Amino acid sequence: MKRSLLLCLVLTLAAGCDRDMMSERGFALPEGDATAGEDAFLYMQCNQCHSIAGVELPTVPGYDPYVELGGKVTRVKTYGQLVTAIINPSHKLAAGYAEEQVSEEGGESRMYNYNRYMTVQELTDLVMFLQPHYDVVVPTFKYPIYP
Ligand code: HEC
Repeated sequence: MKRSLLLCLVLTLAAGCDRDMMSERGFALPEGDATAGEDAFLYMQCNQCHSIAGVELPTVPGYDPYVELGGKVTRVKTYGQLVTAIINPSHKLAAGYAEEQVSEEGGESRMYNYNRYMTVQELTDLVMFLQPHYDVVVPTFKYPIYP
C-alpha cells in the first residue's frame, strides 16, 4: 500500500515536470567548426583566464590563466553543460576551485558575460573546439546555410 502511494507520487511529479514550459528538453545547437572555435577562443581572449589541458596556447600579456578547461579537473560533462558554462557561467561554477578564486562576492562567476557580443556561430564553434577536451558528445544535425 505504502509503495503504491509512493509510486503515485513519483508519477504525479514526473507528469508535472513534463508540462514544464521552461524545460531544456529538445534544446540543440547546430554543429560548429573547431578551427574557427580556436580562433574565436583567442580573439575573444578566453585565454586571459583559461588554459586548456594538453593544448599549447599563446598567452595574453599581463594575464595568468587560472582555470584549466578540459582534462579531469573540471565539472563539464555534457554538451548542455558546456554551452551553459559559456553563456550562463554563474549557473554552476567549475568544481575544484576555491570559491573566491572563481567567483565574485555573491557567487557570480568571474567569467565575462559575452552574450551581447558573441554570435551563435561563435558559440557553436567554441563548443566544437572545446568539446574534444571534455568527454562530451555533440548531436549531429545538417542545416542549409542562410544566404
Ligand atoms: C575574466 C576571466 C575569464 C574569461 C576571459 C573567460 N572565462 Fe571562462 N571561466 C572563468 C572562471 C573564473 C570560470 C570558473 C567559474 C565558472 O564555472 O563560471 C570559468 C569557467 C568556464 C568554463 C567551465 C569550466 C568547467 O569545466 O566547469 C568554460 C567552458 C569556459 N569558462 C569557457 C570560456 C570561454 C569559451 C571563454 C571565452 C569566450 C571564457 N571562458 C572566458 C573565467 C573566465
